[in-house]
Amino acid sequence: MTTSHHATGPKRSAPKVILITGASSGIGQQSALDLIREGHIVYGAARRVEAMAPLIEAGGHTLALDVTEDASMVAAVQQVIEAEGRIDVLINNAGYATYGAVEDIPMETGRRQLEVNIMGLARMTQLVLPHMRAQQAGRILNISSIGGTIHTPLGAWYHGTKFFVEGFTNALRLEVEDKGIQMVLIAPGLIDTGFSEVLTKELTRNEKEPAYKPLYDGLRNADAQAQSAPGTVSKAISKAISARHPKTIYRAGKYANLLYVLRRLLPHRVFDKMVLSMVK
Ligand SMILES: NC(=O)c1ccc[n+]([C@@H]2O[C@H](COP(=O)([O-])OP(=O)(O)OC[C@H]3O[C@@H](n4cnc5c(N)ncnc54)[C@H](OP(=O)(O)O)[C@@H]3O)[C@@H](O)[C@H]2O)c1
Repeated sequence: MTTSHHATGPKRSAPKVILITGASSGIGQQSALDLIREGHIVYGAARRVEAMAPLIEAGGHTLALDVTEDASMVAAVQQVIEAEGRIDVLINNAGYATYGAVEDIPMETGRRQLEVNIMGLARMTQLVLPHMRAQQAGRILNISSIGGTIHTPLGAWYHGTKFFVEGFTNALRLEVEDKGIQMVLIAPGLIDTGFSEVLTKELTRNEKEPAYKPLYDGLRNADAQAQSAPGTVSKAISKAISARHPKTIYRAGKYANLLYVLRRLLPHRVFDKMVLSMVK
């Protein structure tokens, strides 16, 4: 790896070495650019390396990474360690949503969803932990979703992955906090990124059984106005990195807090009815 060429943007905290997955688009790309501007040493990682050119232009670094390939994950972490000697922050952001009726989704499609959103995040975490433990410092931000608290029809596989992210992150906090490592959840609401396009493609590809057609149609027509800009999440990520004592979870985007509160307050069946009324 070549010598770092650090950006000289405004600094909110001492520069940190940050590895962020899924930096070729959406939340990951916006956050990588904002963190570079804040003066951090940022390594963006994704499969589409060419789509991360803006990071290089801004003074950051890019790495090829497929979170379904073990060798690729090992190599990415190794490259950052070789170049910088440390990793202060890992942001596990790579992810997508496969939507469709449970009856319709082939097991192979479901398995791939788990590989990216769960196994990739868990392996990247496992790979950075020994370095952070040796440093006696580090922070891991796992991008969950409001979908890690609430549930929508046709989203069983996706919600399952985000509920995993929440449980995994909270449990791991109890293992590593006394070693100087902080585990933080970031829970975005609906954000205007490449996410909806991927979700819609998955929905169309998976749709088979006519009995679920009203739900498929309802989701396709869901209100796009509910989306927030990726900068909303990027701000929460910056806060989670610069705070001396980060919160355990940062919710970001329109309705994220409201939906969380409703989910906690409303009886299960009432909440179910409310969600169904939004998509039918
Ligand atoms: N947008 C929302 O409404 C929303 C809401 C809540 C949570 N989230 C979460 O936010 C995270 C980022 O999503 P986004 O909204 O920014 O979507 P996006 O624009 O589609 O970006 C997804 C990123 O994940 C990367 N990725 C996908 N599969 C990968 C793989 N196998 N290996 C490495 N990288 C992979 C993609 O890069 P490559 O394709 O180049 O590899 C891309 O950079 C996801 O975890 C998502 O679940 C999004």
